[in-house]
Amino acid sequence: MTTTQQPRAQWLGRWGFVLAATGSAVGLGNIWKFPYITGEHGGGAFVLVYLACILAVGVPVMMTEIAFGRRGRGSPIDAVRRVVTESGRSPLWSLLGWMAMLAGFMILSFYVVVAGWSFSYLWKMVTGQLAGSGVDDMVAIFVANNENPFNLGFWSTLVTLLTMLIVGKGVQAGIERSVSWMMPGMVIMLLILIGYGVFSGGFGEAWRFLFSFNAGSLTSDGMLAALGHAFFTLSLASGAILTYGSYLPSRTSIARTTFSVAIADTLVALMAGLAIFPIIFANGMNPGEGPGLIFMSLPLAFQAMPLGTLFGILFFVMLSMAALTSSISMVEATVSWLVDNKGISRRTAAWGTGIVLWLVSTLAMLSFNLGADWTLAGRHFFDWLDYLTSRWMMPLGGLGMALLAGFVLKSESFREELGLSAQWHALWLFMVRYVSPLGILVIFVDALGIARL
Ligand code: PFF
Ligand code: NA
Repeated sequence: MTTTQQPRAQWLGRWGFVLAATGSAVGLGNIWKFPYITGEHGGGAFVLVYLACILAVGVPVMMTEIAFGRRGRGSPIDAVRRVVTESGRSPLWSLLGWMAMLAGFMILSFYVVVAGWSFSYLWKMVTGQLAGSGVDDMVAIFVANNENPFNLGFWSTLVTLLTMLIVGKGVQAGIERSVSWMMPGMVIMLLILIGYGVFSGGFGEAWRFLFSFNAGSLTSDGMLAALGHAFFTLSLASGAILTYGSYLPSRTSIARTTFSVAIADTLVALMAGLAIFPIIFANGMNPGEGPGLIFMSLPLAFQAMPLGTLFGILFFVMLSMAALTSSISMVEATVSWLVDNKGISRRTAAWGTGIVLWLVSTLAMLSFNLGADWTLAGRHFFDWLDYLTSRWMMPLGGLGMALLAGFVLKSESFREELGLSAQWHALWLFMVRYVSPLGILVIFVDALGIARL
């Protein structure tokens, strides 16, 4: 195999990787998806399984992916191939890289639609279209926003353009700087909303909903959803973290950065839950409302708050930016693969990917209007993209990565790369060999109905 002459880009600052990886992790997954799937799966028990999956599967797999990226210095496909051939193993393992890249692309195809919601709600806030609306109006506004394909398509197209614009510019120029002020801003916004929730009357109920364990509500489907969400929320098995890891300077500690990213991501998700559910309960809304949950509930709170319009605008600015720092990470794998292997410029790679993405995401967008009836087994295209990636591709990809690192590679490869003390290394190895794979398998087998737990 040939190595490229030109040195691979690296993060500029000491915090570059942590910020970019946190930017990738913290996104719509935390603020939009976590509350609504928690609502759909009945709360506490789901949250507990999700937290267990973050710790037992997400953290070890994230360390593994970053190590693959940094050791292989390439896109998921190239990096995995380099690392396995270095250990004298079959290059066929790079199929895991292909699956990850495909998953990243599929996720982005529906992610831009949701990010489009965020942008369109920002616009509604700015132009005062939400003022004075009650619960029923909010539902109607969400439905109306989806009904017109030109309206919805305008916003998802805008997100696609912005994503490609940033990625086309390169690794450091856009990504590294934007996240450093956006992340603190979002945390402040969430704290204000939690503060509001405490006084809105629904806080106690929200707290119990999220944190009281009720074994009866633990379904196989909910457990698989929690596992899939652990991958989704940490940007795992979809190329993003691995590719960002390929730009990581060799002296940075992989374990420490992994923990910072995982903790930040988890805190933002829990904060989002504590901000949103009090509003849901105080207004007698249904927590299982589905993907529209935050767009129907948060604007209600903003209206009732002093300076609510201002806070509402700030919030949707933050949410939109959080979406962008995640969306750029999803295409980075594909773009870097094209640049390294096809001899085209980064700009060309970004716009070429953008065109294909636009076509697929337009199909996903149509699921909410013209294509609402184009369903297969009860799911429309948007749902299929989400379902296939979260429930199947990411957990299977993570299983493959863990087994590959745990059993197939020469043990020196990652000992050097992770640079842990003997005990910590042994713990990591135990996790990727047994705990993470078994966790994934048990949930799979259970969900497939092969065996009942
Ligand atoms: N982690 C992102 C979120 O929680 O919004 C979503 C995501 C980003 C998934 C990047 C996959 C990915 F490669
Ligand atoms: Na996340």
